[in-house]
Amino acid sequence: MARKLIVGNWKMNGTLVSNTRLLREIRDDSTIQASQIDAAVCVPFLHVPEAQVILMDSALRLGVQDISAFRDGAFTGEISADMAGEFGVQYAVVGHSERRIYHGETPKTVGEKALRAIEAGITPVVCVGETQQERESGCARETVEIQLVAALDSLTTDQARGLVLAYEPVWAIGTGRSASAQQAQEMHGFLREVLRSRAESLASVTILYGGSVKPSTAAELFAQDDIDGALVGGASLEAAQFLDIVHLAASPAVAPM
Ligand code: PGA
Repeated sequence: MARKLIVGNWKMNGTLVSNTRLLREIRDDSTIQASQIDAAVCVPFLHVPEAQVILMDSALRLGVQDISAFRDGAFTGEISADMAGEFGVQYAVVGHSERRIYHGETPKTVGEKALRAIEAGITPVVCVGETQQERESGCARETVEIQLVAALDSLTTDQARGLVLAYEPVWAIGTGRSASAQQAQEMHGFLREVLRSRAESLASVTILYGGSVKPSTAAELFAQDDIDGALVGGASLEAAQFLDIVHLAASPAVAPM
C-alpha cells in the first residue's frame, strides 16, 4: 500500500501559546520524526512564523488553510501563495467547504487558488464534497465532479500531478458523522476515474478523506484502496488523537478490513 498523508486542519482555533504547545507535541512524535509517514498541520496564518521556527529541521510539514487567488496587488486582507512560501509553507488547503459556503468561493476561484499555490511551489489540498441535500437528491457525484474539473481546468496535466485532492462530504464535517468507509471508497474510486479520464498519469494523485475522522474510524478508512490519507479537523486539535490517526496510517497492515 502506498505511503499515506495525514493533514491536520486547525481552522480558527487556539491561541499562540496553546497552538505552539500542540505543534511541539505533534512534532516530537517518533513516527513523524522517523519519517514513517507524511504529515502536515495547517495552522492559522498569524501562527505561521512561530510554527516555521518550531518545525525547522522537522519531518512534520507546515500548511495554511487558504491562500489568495491573486498573485499580488490591491486585495486588502489577502495573503498570497508567495508570501506563504517565504515562511516555508508546503501545503495550502483550497476550496474548503467552509470557504465555499461562508465566503462564496466558486469552483473557478478554487482552481485559481490551486494554480497560485503550485506556481509558488506549495502543494494545494483541493477540497471537494457534496451537501446532504445534494447526496439525497442523487447528485453527489455530479457535484464533486464539477468541483474537481474546475480545478483541473486551471492547471496543466503536469501541474495537476502536484495536487492533493480531499474528498470532504459537507454533511460529515464537524458533525461527528463520518462517511462510512464504503461511502468514502465509492466516491474516491469515482474521483480517481475522473482524474484518470483527464490523463493516465493523474490516476496516482493523492486523495484524502475528510469529515469527522477519528482514531476509531481511521483504520477502516485507511484500509480502502483509494483512500490515501486524511484531512483531519476536530481530532487534530488534540495531539493524542491526531497522533493515533497518524500511527494508524503509518501501519496500515494492522488495520482491520
Ligand atoms: P472535521 O473537519 O474532522 O472536524 O470534520 C474536517 C475538515 O473540515 O477538514
